[in-house]
Amino acid sequence: MKKLASLFATCMLFVTTLSFAGAKDDYTYANYDQVVTTHTYLDLAIDFDNKSLKGFAELDLKWLVEGNQSIILDTRDLIVHRVMAKAKGETWLPASFKLAKRDSVLGSKLTIKSPVKADKLRVYYQSTEKASGLQWLTPEQTAGKKLPFMFSQNQAIHARSWIPSQDTPSVRMTYSARITTPKDVLAVMSADNDPSTARDGDYFFDMPQPVPAYLIAIAAGDLVFKPMSDITGIYAEPSLVDGAVAEFDDTQAMIDVTEEMYGKYRWSRYDLLILPPSFPFGGMENPRLSFITPTVIAGDKSLVNLIAHELAHSWSGNLVTNESWRDLWLNEGFTSYVENRIMERVFGVDRAVMEQSLAAQGLNYEIAELAPGDTQLYIDLKGRDPDDAFSGVPYTKGQLFLMYLEEKFGRDIFDKFVQQYFDDHAFQSLGTAEFVKYIEKNLLKKHPNVISMDVINEWIYEQGLPSFVPRPQSDAFVIIDQQISDYIGDKLALEQLDTSAWTVHQWLHFINNLPLNISEAKMKQLDSAFNLTKSTNAEKAHAWYLLALKTGYQPIYPAMEQYLIGIGRRKLIVPLYKTLAETPEGKAWAKRVYDIARPGYHPLAQGTVDSILK
Ligand code: BES
Ligand code: ZN
Repeated sequence: MKKLASLFATCMLFVTTLSFAGAKDDYTYANYDQVVTTHTYLDLAIDFDNKSLKGFAELDLKWLVEGNQSIILDTRDLIVHRVMAKAKGETWLPASFKLAKRDSVLGSKLTIKSPVKADKLRVYYQSTEKASGLQWLTPEQTAGKKLPFMFSQNQAIHARSWIPSQDTPSVRMTYSARITTPKDVLAVMSADNDPSTARDGDYFFDMPQPVPAYLIAIAAGDLVFKPMSDITGIYAEPSLVDGAVAEFDDTQAMIDVTEEMYGKYRWSRYDLLILPPSFPFGGMENPRLSFITPTVIAGDKSLVNLIAHELAHSWSGNLVTNESWRDLWLNEGFTSYVENRIMERVFGVDRAVMEQSLAAQGLNYEIAELAPGDTQLYIDLKGRDPDDAFSGVPYTKGQLFLMYLEEKFGRDIFDKFVQQYFDDHAFQSLGTAEFVKYIEKNLLKKHPNVISMDVINEWIYEQGLPSFVPRPQSDAFVIIDQQISDYIGDKLALEQLDTSAWTVHQWLHFINNLPLNISEAKMKQLDSAFNLTKSTNAEKAHAWYLLALKTGYQPIYPAMEQYLIGIGRRKLIVPLYKTLAETPEGKAWAKRVYDIARPGYHPLAQGTVDSILK
């Protein structure tokens, strides 16, 4: 009998391995086809001295199969002290566990053998200094220089570096937490932050909406809160909060128009957390509390599409989630589309079209450089770290696809479809194939003879851009194109360039479209007239430095050095390092600056730049 059982177990193992090979997410070890986490309680102390989170995670489990009692979790660089398990109504019992050898992409598989069919599991552990999902800043690295700062960045698969978890977007759970910090430090999470909480170093959080592990987020530092409306406000270091409030005070208006277009905002509050400049992204859509780079506080609201973007994720991404990172376009493509619709409503159609055009041009440059296989919406990650496969393709090709559908079906029909899609999949995860079936049934078949499924399949599964891709045309950019050609062709002197009313977007288009054989004299002329090297707009400065590197214009170097040391946002620094690395002198200069900058960068940015300059 025993033999039979073990034969059965082997068969079952075979079957599960087989079905697992076809499972939805290749980036988790979790046996989530057998057991899922429904709730996680975190009890963690933030230890700034040791750069560690220490305590336990208690997972509520729901079993989907009979028989099996082992649970596999994702971890990376965690120290696991012990594991306890508890069956319903019973007492806690020790469970045996095994932490496998670390895989460079996936981390270490944690296999837990429970003596009972556990409905609760406690993993006592601590994160280490190596945690890829955490950055620890000394007081000197913050704006106020008084208190230390730490924050998490879980997307795509970094939750496992500080939470033993089923780290896949296919599993959603509610969560709660008790977080202790040194006194004076305020902790916040992607949960029900109470703006009036006492700063006593002991904080409680509850997140009643189920989210995947990549949306669990924490930050702690010298934070203050300032409200912008009843449900929106800013957390930031004291010296940054007023500027942020002024920059982002359209947030409530953005929520209002998105609700009108796509249905109710389902997460109660929407606050913004302003991070230190080393934050490796522009923003991260952590639910109820988007994490935002300070590099978009430009003083003129010129970069607030980032807020529209992170807010849009409250529908596309957080409410309706990609089931694997291969389906990222379902998150980011829809979000880029919704972001632009929000911008159109709040800032007008001219600005929205300029933003479409800038994005489309960026995408064309990127596609020219990407491996053809990476230009499909449904990306083939080929075992790479999902972070490495991110490009403008899921964002802007995805957005252009949805703009195309909107154009073909008309706004009324398409908006209703998108709203229904969000409602039908609320708090669920889905993949590309399921989306294709859904759109066939709910859009193409309902409105026949508009487009065929071949067109949908071409957009999603073919490389590059279809011949019928929308080409956003901005009148405001046509003017700039004319000025560029007249100035470069010496038909127009510098003084005749009519820049007084140019917006930041027009400046970006101008800089991005100057020819690479522009003379040094003209670069110098433009620089002295418009102070481009010293631009305080992070995007404008970035575009100018890139052009200067490509055209060999030297005077940017001292300012670019400060820029690279002061900012850790990957999108702004990586293209500069890449371009510098193309020549031996550039690479030598970059290495010298990077030596200074590296300690201030986030582990993710360090990883990317390390590999460029190695
Ligand atoms: N979710 C992303 C950030 C992200 C993507 C983190 C992939 C980790 C892996 C966020 O919503 C985002 O797209 N941010 C952009 C904003 C922009 C497109 C307006 C960014 O950070 O630049
Ligand atoms: Zn996004």
